[in-house]
Amino acid sequence: TRVRISDDALALACGADAVADAFAAAGCRVERVSSWGMHWLEPLVEIDGQGFGPATPADVNAILDGSSAKAIGNIAAHPFIARQQRLTFARAGRTRPLSLDDYAATGGWQGLDRARAMLPAAVIAEVTQSGLRGRGGAGFPAGIKWQTVAGASGTRKYVVCNADEGDSGTFADRMIMEGDPFQLVEGMAICAHAVGADQGYIYTRSEYPHAIAKLRAAIVLAAPRIAPFRLEVRVGAGAYVCGEETALLNSLEGKRGEVRAKPPLPALSGLFGCPTVVNNVLTLVAIPHILSEGGAAEYARLGVDRSRGTKPIQLAGNIRHGGLYETAFGITLRELIHDIGGGTASERPVKAVQVGGPLGAYIHPDRFDLPFDYEAYAAADALIGHGGIVVFDDTVDMAQMARFAMDFCAAESCGKCTPCRIGSTRGGELIARILSGARAPDAVESLAQMRNAGKRARSLEAEVALLEDLCETMKFGSLCALGGFTPYPVLSALRHWPEDFGLAREAIP
Ligand code: NAI
Ligand code: SF4
Repeated sequence: TRVRISDDALALACGADAVADAFAAAGCRVERVSSWGMHWLEPLVEIDGQGFGPATPADVNAILDGSSAKAIGNIAAHPFIARQQRLTFARAGRTRPLSLDDYAATGGWQGLDRARAMLPAAVIAEVTQSGLRGRGGAGFPAGIKWQTVAGASGTRKYVVCNADEGDSGTFADRMIMEGDPFQLVEGMAICAHAVGADQGYIYTRSEYPHAIAKLRAAIVLAAPRIAPFRLEVRVGAGAYVCGEETALLNSLEGKRGEVRAKPPLPALSGLFGCPTVVNNVLTLVAIPHILSEGGAAEYARLGVDRSRGTKPIQLAGNIRHGGLYETAFGITLRELIHDIGGGTASERPVKAVQVGGPLGAYIHPDRFDLPFDYEAYAAADALIGHGGIVVFDDTVDMAQMARFAMDFCAAESCGKCTPCRIGSTRGGELIARILSGARAPDAVESLAQMRNAGKRARSLEAEVALLEDLCETMKFGSLCALGGFTPYPVLSALRHWPEDFGLAREAIP
């Protein structure tokens, strides 16, 4: 019997190796494949398309004799998978990550072959027509960035893949690097052809050892296919700010991961001062499909308004069915969290979701009809970011989450600019002061205490006004998104859950 089990880091953490060993000991031929992305079912076992999960070594006999209660039926027909529009994750669960045969048999290298038969300008035109925007978070049109690099003067040009994936609750980059590394290699080789680069770097973090090993092995295997383009993996030490493109470039150059002022844009003066494309993993892995025959038109047909194509969304936190969900832009949070995610894992009511990493806004269930679309989120003072969704139930204290945002910024700040370096520390102190006021005893016994309580009430308003003022300074005065976006979680928590700060609802405009 042929048994397929993922060797993705999440499956391994859930015990996939022990399950694989138990099947091998039972005489089965075990094949290690990428993960389908249904995390609550890992380790997921596949036999002839039928799934069983989450499996343990004790389940092996029952799975083999057909009596297992862990059977989930045909995996590809499972509602979580069948409802998705998987382009980037089309191979997830279906191929062996380091098999060149599996890759070629599932359309691999077709995009590169076609691109190399075209003039670079025609490749860029197709990327532009597809409507693909930067998937790291900012949503800048990929074709225009490539065009800028292609048109920049300079004898050396680079392609850099931002695989730092620092956002909480995100794992799509890691899943691609571990599960479909050739697709990233192919996307970068197409980009190199389009902009005229002969060297590329994938910058990722030391916390991703499985991804690093897979990528390095994939690059060796694919080297003849992508030559003369050369590719290397570089490993950072996990500073959040090294996901910011200019800090990343500094780190790649062996310098401290400190943000550089823009301009100059990396597209004109990036790695070692040369014109450089810096794209996120998910942007680059969308490219092979877009460059395949008819791919750009298909991509542009999907989505809403200026958010075209598909977005790999990551469902995490307190959610029953967490995992990777790729679909066209336009889906609402209500569908994602309730219909697809099945609500909270704790079975308590959802209180908030944070979209877009630790610097994303907290979204109240009242606003769950917001469509997944860059502009709709921006208009609602929120971020799509890298597409991470972290769910919280009603036991979460939103004031503590606001405090965490400031503390996170203080810990991760590169220290280059004042609003972020000092503002985040003062912000953490300010929220602590607001909370200590709010948590004072309710009963007012003496006249002195009544006076103090009155003062406290006034000072609470003043402290909140100061916090809002500080957030405005950080938002508009910070050099990069770390300091500039920290106000999103803080202000959204304050606006939508004032009671957690000890404030009456009417106190917040
Ligand atoms: P940005 O808006 O400054 O730039 C976006 C990209 O477009 C950059 O690569 C920039 O160099 C490029 N660009 C801008 N104008 C250009 C032009 N005229 N020609 C060519 N290229 C041009 O945004 P930034 O600061 O790079 O990124 C902020 C985003 O990062 C946020 O939206 C946030 O969601 C996201 N983020 C993602 C994380 C992750 O783990 N993926 C972590 C933290 C933040
Ligand atoms: Fe550095 Fe923070 Fe300023 Fe960004 S906002 S440059 S992380 S100090």
